[in-house]
Amino acid sequence: MGIFDLFKKKEEKRIIYPTFSKGFHGDDFLIQFSSSLLKDCSHFVETGSAEATTLSFVSKNNPHLSLISCEADEVVYRHAIKQVEGLTNVDLRNQLSPEFVYKLTSENPAIVNGKVFFWLDAHGYGFKWPLLEEVDFILNKYPQSFIFIDDFKVPGQPQFGYDVYEEQECSLDYLEPALRKYNNLKIYFPKYSEKTSEYHPLRGWVLITQLSHPVLENLPEDIFEYTQGGK
Ligand SMILES: C[S@@+](CC[C@H](N)C(=O)[O-])C[C@H]1O[C@@H](n2cnc3c(N)ncnc32)[C@H](O)[C@@H]1O
Repeated sequence: MGIFDLFKKKEEKRIIYPTFSKGFHGDDFLIQFSSSLLKDCSHFVETGSAEATTLSFVSKNNPHLSLISCEADEVVYRHAIKQVEGLTNVDLRNQLSPEFVYKLTSENPAIVNGKVFFWLDAHGYGFKWPLLEEVDFILNKYPQSFIFIDDFKVPGQPQFGYDVYEEQECSLDYLEPALRKYNNLKIYFPKYSEKTSEYHPLRGWVLITQLSHPVLENLPEDIFEYTQGGK
């Protein structure tokens, strides 16, 4: 080993977790709520597949959907590809978001005419985290979409964990420059405190949409619509 090798960044080996049988980090409230919206969607678009837990779960339970996802880490991607083998409605790519979102939109412009369910979950592991850019792009190009973001800070509900990387917080404050451009947005958050997941603590999430839907007009009691000032 030479002197310069001492200064090289140590390569961290990525741990591959099992692919769990339930998606959406095993949160039964979120699974039920998302299923009621997925029924009426044409596409499921995910950023950050990891081991393809949510991807394979949504694929198996929703054969009517086209699912497209990306994973930046090549090792995890190779593992995930094996997990979705035989799921003919899945297209999984070894790509970074948001390039992934830009590309899938330009190669299939008609996609924006259907109802698209986004599950934005690409973060961590040393990759860039351009969530603001992604949300800005999606709100502009996909007015008929349900945008779910995982690991989100839930106002007034501290029981939910959320992500922060290098001072970038996964929260409404962080997304404000994109959200303020639209006056028709509806924003929904969880407010339950029961932990239903067998393998994950309570994690926050948000749904941002410009769409109306009977389920949103008749919200389950454990989900609330956010209004400025919080609830
Ligand atoms: C929380 S895990 C995703 C879990 C998965 N969505 C699920 O619900 O089963 C986040 C994944 O995003 C990947 N990732 C991080 N930044 C990314 C980026 N900019 N583009 C694509 N993937 C990224 C990480 O390598 C990691 O595997």
